[in-house]
Amino acid sequence: MDSMRFWGWMCIFLFAVVAGSAAPEADAFDQARKLGRGVNLLSYDRVWESRERGRFKPKHFQLLKNAGFSRVRINLYSFRHMSNTNGWALEAQWLDTLDWIIDAALEQKLKVILDLHEFAVLGKDPAANKEQFLAFWRLISDHCQKRPDDVWFEPLNEPSEKLTEELWNGYFAEALKIIREKNPKRMVVVGPGHWNSIDHLHELVLPENDRNLIVTVHYYQPFEFTHQGAAWVNRQDKLGVSWDGTTEQRAAIKRDFDKVAAWGKKNNRPIFLGEFGAYEKADIAARERYTAAVARAAEEQGWSWAYWEFNGGFAVYDARQGKWVEPILRALIPRSPELSDVAKP
Ligand code: BGC
Repeated sequence: MDSMRFWGWMCIFLFAVVAGSAAPEADAFDQARKLGRGVNLLSYDRVWESRERGRFKPKHFQLLKNAGFSRVRINLYSFRHMSNTNGWALEAQWLDTLDWIIDAALEQKLKVILDLHEFAVLGKDPAANKEQFLAFWRLISDHCQKRPDDVWFEPLNEPSEKLTEELWNGYFAEALKIIREKNPKRMVVVGPGHWNSIDHLHELVLPENDRNLIVTVHYYQPFEFTHQGAAWVNRQDKLGVSWDGTTEQRAAIKRDFDKVAAWGKKNNRPIFLGEFGAYEKADIAARERYTAAVARAAEEQGWSWAYWEFNGGFAVYDARQGKWVEPILRALIPRSPELSDVAKP
């Protein structure tokens, strides 16, 4: 009897050990795949100054979820809400708004990427702004440490200009070290210098032993099509460029993405397409063709993606009028339940 009890306990113990060791750790590749279809949002919204005056409402997360999106990349312009007179503390109201937004996203089961979007400030004078950059991540890393695994950090969107590839490798390593103190396993998204360009991936150097990193690239090629009429890149007069989806044009996207995939394979890192899209000054039918082609090309590589952007110049949703820009939604999610009958493919 005693020996039976002994073997009974032994079996339970062995089962627990085997089950425990078989439970896989959250694997970055798996996590990156599960991100699914996402959208960038909130960069220029007044919600950061006042919830009431902001165009963004929590119901937009419900719309996104219903449409078939699974994640949001929240673009944060936080530097103006910090001051070095009090050790770079973030304004309490700004942090409250951030919490309110994260809660609303998680409630809809949307995964969240917190993307620091102060790339222009850091690009202009990296050394002068480094302290604030690191202070921001020290604060957020502390503030969000209890958040579920579905909240990820992206230390900086599109490092560029004077924040060279070499400098960026060092800045990122320092930010990551700070993040890891309180978030040892949280997924962190990082992209190469030169505006997260695929041509600069080979210059990205990552801490080899940190396997919870997801590598991001942005894709706006051909730039003369996607940025026609865009004043912020001095193209306000350069209009009328089409994208017809010829075999050659589609092959160019595939060639570019194959290059990224090869880098990912060689370096054993998962890839995430963090931004793509075409500005509203381009012809809408061409934008639809292009957006669909890029989204499908990413999906064929097995990558998750995030469209630039929810509302604004590249909008998939017109928040002022309260309706979807259906050609763009259809391009992103062809069978979206939010498409009206006339817009269904
Ligand atoms: C920038 C936006 C810009 C977009 C496309 C983003 O990373 O923050 O200002 O509209 O890229 O150029």
